[in-house]
Amino acid sequence: MKLVEWIALVLALVLVFCHGSSASFTPVDNYLIACGSPRNVTFQGRTFVPDSGHSSLFVKSGNSVVASSNSSSVPSPLYQSARIFTGIASYKFEIKQEGRHWVRLYFYPPSSWSQNLTSASITVVTDDFVLLNNFTFKNYNGSYMFKEYAINVTSDDLTLSFIVSNNSVTFINAIEVVSMPDGVLPDQALAVNPSSPFSGLSELAFETVYRLNMGGPLLTAQNDTLGRTWENDAKYLHVNSSAVNVSVSPSSIKYPAAVTPETAPNWVYATAETMGEANVPSENFNITWVFTVDPNFMYFVRVHFCDIVSKALNSLVFNVYINSDNALGSLDLSSITGGLAVPYYKDFVSNSSAGSDTLTVSVGPDTVADITDAILNGLEVMKISNEVNSLDGFSSVKNLHPSSPSKNNKIVIIVGCVVGSVVAVALIGLFYCCLAARKAKDTNNNQGHPWLPLPLYGNSQTMTKMSTTSQKSATGSCISLASSNLGRFFMFQEILDATNKFDESLLLGVGGFGRVYKGTLEDGTKVAVKRGNPRSEQGLAEFRTEIEMLSKLRHRHLVSLIGYCDERSEMVLVYEYMANGPLRSHLYGTDLPPLSWKQRLEICIGAARGLHYLHTGAAQSIIHRDVKTTNILLDENFVAKVADFGLSKTGPALDQTHVSTAVKGSFGYLDPEYFRRQQLTEKSDVYSFGVVLMEVLCTRPALNPVLPREQVNIAEWAMTWQKKGMLDQIMDQNLVGKVNPASLKKFGETAEKCLAEHGVDRPSMGDVLWNLEYALQLEETSSALMEPEDNSTNHIPGIQLATIEPFDNSVSMIDAGNSCTDDDAEDAATSAVFSQLVNPRGR
Ligand SMILES: *[C@@H]1O[C@H](CO)[C@@H](O)[C@H](O)[C@H]1NC(C)=O
Ligand SMILES: *[C@@H]1O[C@H](CO)[C@@H](O)[C@H](O)[C@H]1NC(C)=O
Ligand SMILES: *[C@@H]1O[C@H](CO)[C@@H](O)[C@H](O)[C@H]1NC(C)=O
Ligand SMILES: *[C@@H]1O[C@H](CO)[C@@H](O)[C@H](O)[C@H]1NC(C)=O
Ligand SMILES: *[C@@H]1O[C@H](CO)[C@@H](O)[C@H](O)[C@H]1NC(C)=O
Ligand SMILES: *[C@@H]1O[C@H](CO)[C@@H](O)[C@H](O)[C@H]1NC(C)=O
Ligand SMILES: *[C@@H]1O[C@H](CO)[C@@H](O)[C@H](O)[C@H]1NC(C)=O
Ligand SMILES: *[C@@H]1O[C@H](CO)[C@@H](O)[C@H](O)[C@H]1NC(C)=O
Ligand SMILES: *[C@@H]1O[C@H](CO)[C@@H](O)[C@H](O)[C@H]1NC(C)=O
Ligand SMILES: *[C@@H]1O[C@H](CO)[C@@H](O)[C@H](O)[C@H]1NC(C)=O
Ligand SMILES: *[C@@H]1O[C@H](CO)[C@@H](O)[C@H](O)[C@H]1NC(C)=O
Ligand SMILES: *[C@@H]1O[C@H](CO)[C@@H](O)[C@H](O)[C@H]1NC(C)=O
Repeated sequence: MKLVEWIALVLALVLVFCHGSSASFTPVDNYLIACGSPRNVTFQGRTFVPDSGHSSLFVKSGNSVVASSNSSSVPSPLYQSARIFTGIASYKFEIKQEGRHWVRLYFYPPSSWSQNLTSASITVVTDDFVLLNNFTFKNYNGSYMFKEYAINVTSDDLTLSFIVSNNSVTFINAIEVVSMPDGVLPDQALAVNPSSPFSGLSELAFETVYRLNMGGPLLTAQNDTLGRTWENDAKYLHVNSSAVNVSVSPSSIKYPAAVTPETAPNWVYATAETMGEANVPSENFNITWVFTVDPNFMYFVRVHFCDIVSKALNSLVFNVYINSDNALGSLDLSSITGGLAVPYYKDFVSNSSAGSDTLTVSVGPDTVADITDAILNGLEVMKISNEVNSLDGFSSVKNLHPSSPSKNNKIVIIVGCVVGSVVAVALIGLFYCCLAARKAKDTNNNQGHPWLPLPLYGNSQTMTKMSTTSQKSATGSCISLASSNLGRFFMFQEILDATNKFDESLLLGVGGFGRVYKGTLEDGTKVAVKRGNPRSEQGLAEFRTEIEMLSKLRHRHLVSLIGYCDERSEMVLVYEYMANGPLRSHLYGTDLPPLSWKQRLEICIGAARGLHYLHTGAAQSIIHRDVKTTNILLDENFVAKVADFGLSKTGPALDQTHVSTAVKGSFGYLDPEYFRRQQLTEKSDVYSFGVVLMEVLCTRPALNPVLPREQVNIAEWAMTWQKKGMLDQIMDQNLVGKVNPASLKKFGETAEKCLAEHGVDRPSMGDVLWNLEYALQLEETSSALMEPEDNSTNHIPGIQLATIEPFDNSVSMIDAGNSCTDDDAEDAATSAVFSQLVNPRGR
């Protein structure tokens, strides 16, 4: 799953970086067949070739004959010819590129044929799906029929079989089999009632039943790069006067990265139906469209939006309903897209409304909005194949066509995987090339964010340096976070539901960035929801930093970002939930059972791995800057993960003179060198980690102002005992007698090296990791006979540990805090001093 996400991110970035080279979409497979026609037929700018010249047609039983109509009443020249089968027949198309393909079928019973074909039964199947089952024109309200399907072809050919029952005939006028770009149709959508993610769509077949260009003209294959037809919506309006059409010039539509003309042409986004000044009695109403559907099937519903009416951002807020179920609540398009005239779409899966044969889609104003209006630009409704892989009835391909060749899907899947991996590797290579090229370009451009130049808020002044290239209008950039692949995008409503409207009883903690709540997603997944204080400038910067960091970093020992929400000026991050909470609460201050020595070592090793990865794993070294026991979280299996990159900063990769403007971090963990010289290196994290190690061993806070002067600071206090070789005197009483002395010795030495006064004397996180693993090994090899030989590679020579006096003002702190007993008060006291010392404005 993680690999998939990563590949998706890489793909998205490759697309972002290498954008501009590709023009409009050209299908790899493009079969346009005019069945039974003696000549090429040109229709809507495309040339259909006769099937007689194609080797693709196989008639397995019976005969095939051609027929043509001279009637000028046919809607298109494609209906002027037909091929008529008196037995089972197939067309087999060689597929060069696997993935979704349009399959379009044209039917018009030719009148020239001796038999009356309006009663002919039409049954069409592919290798896996039933497209039409025993259809006849007899009961059909119309003289011709056009059908469009979207089928994921996972082998190197596609067979369309026409099944003829005994003594009957069937026919076909024209066929299209055309590739479509991956990603036009998703694997996942949101089911509306109950609201939950619905996945696995990529394995199902779709049939287009409605595709509407709201308030706009008919668009045909000529106006759509994917050859789709979009019709006007007027005839589906429940109350035709409830909507008024609006339009802008199609060229004013600004596609973001996640929406392309393949999603829908700009003509669709440039027109819409709105409430406007509709001539209806009540000011407050919904615009509703009603569609006839088959209640036995589920439907894929895609709603297309583009705010072409607002004069300012965040003024249009409305609701979208499917069958009177709330599909999108309080939708504020501009907060998602970051601008006006920027397309956005959302996918749903729905049944018909309560067993009836209609499906309705409505838009209506949100009660909280200042402006009473709602908009819809486009709508697609597609039938989804059922459990027997049919789009028409309940017979499977096997029932209708017993002689159908059965494919060996396993081989296909294996081949697919191999091809997929090769492609992925190639893309990663390409991505690095892109990155290298871009880095070379950017060396003088000291923005420091070569990966994700994606503004969070198009209208925020903090983004001005980012949006210089796309300053087309006052609304700023048209790319928003919603369009980049930074994990799942959550609607603010989903966040409210997950956290029970930020119920204070679910509060997990409060940090510099904001409050953290426990939440439960609709599918039951537990998450930690971090809500930023909306107006804090620092918070906004940290929110960005954190999304940028986390989207780059995936590691077993780093807390994973699941998604985010930046709707309605909210800054919400959704993380995996860590069931066992912060390490600190397992050390002291709570009545949780004490951790064993082995558990403590494993937790320290896990955290060290996470930090080591931060320092070395990414293209640019990342310094955490706030390593402490409350930022090391434990999952349900006590696996340690490093959290809170809000204060992180990329390391001195480009410029060596890296001086940060404000000292950040937590008092008690702060590297004395960093504190004095504001020189930030990875070794600052190593120092803080040394404090963590001592805290884990001694189970006391890093700083405890209630204690006598020499004991206040754990780094000082533990160090004096370590130098005497008597660390066991101050260690956790629960551990006494239960720790292998050699393991303890190694651990103490490691912590001592981490706490060296000068960064250069401290080991790297990799060395720390190595030493801790060694300590664990010593603990596990319980035969204490094994003398730990001092390996010169991990012994740092010449350590001269002068008494550390990092905080001269700590005396005043004792005065300030000598009545404090609980952790919170102690934190308050220390952070108050910290504020005085370092950052007068506080965090
Ligand atoms: C029909 O179209 C095909 C491809 O567009 C072309 O190669 C062929 O020459 C055309 N045939 C006639 C008879 O125009
Ligand atoms: C259609 O019209 C052409 C001439 O336009 C004629 O040669 C042909 O026989 C007609 N076919 C039928 C089925 O009427
Ligand atoms: C074909 O049969 C249908 C009824 O089954 C009838 O309405 C129609 O007029 C017939 N068409 C012709 C050309 O005979
Ligand atoms: C097809 O439908 C007709 C009625 O429209 C019915 O009489 C016939 O039995 C059906 N055939 C199959 C194979 O289901
Ligand atoms: C057939 O279509 C016409 C107009 O499109 C409509 O008035 C009529 O109700 C439809 N009949 C059926 C049976 O759907
Ligand atoms: C078609 O004919 C075969 C034998 O010729 C018979 O077994 C089958 O039942 C018939 N099917 C129908 C739908 O009449
Ligand atoms: C097609 O199906 C395969 C296998 O089920 C899947 O891996 C692939 O993503 C699908 N493609 C699309 C475009 O949905
Ligand atoms: C938009 O509305 C106007 C007036 O109501 C109408 O004349 C026009 O045809 C409509 N445009 C479309 C594309 O429906
Ligand atoms: C669609 O394309 C045709 C042919 O290029 C053109 O005449 C028509 O105006 C286009 N329609 C729209 C809405 O752009
Ligand atoms: C709305 O419906 C009325 C009658 O129901 C009809 O007269 C009018 O033309 C319709 N308006 C539009 C724009 O379709
Ligand atoms: C709009 O439709 C929804 C769902 O049917 C309903 O709950 C809501 O009250 C309607 N709003 C108005 C203003 O009629
Ligand atoms: C639609 O209804 C069926 C049967 O009642 C149910 O199994 C399915 O989950 C429903 N789908 C959605 C999207 O609600």
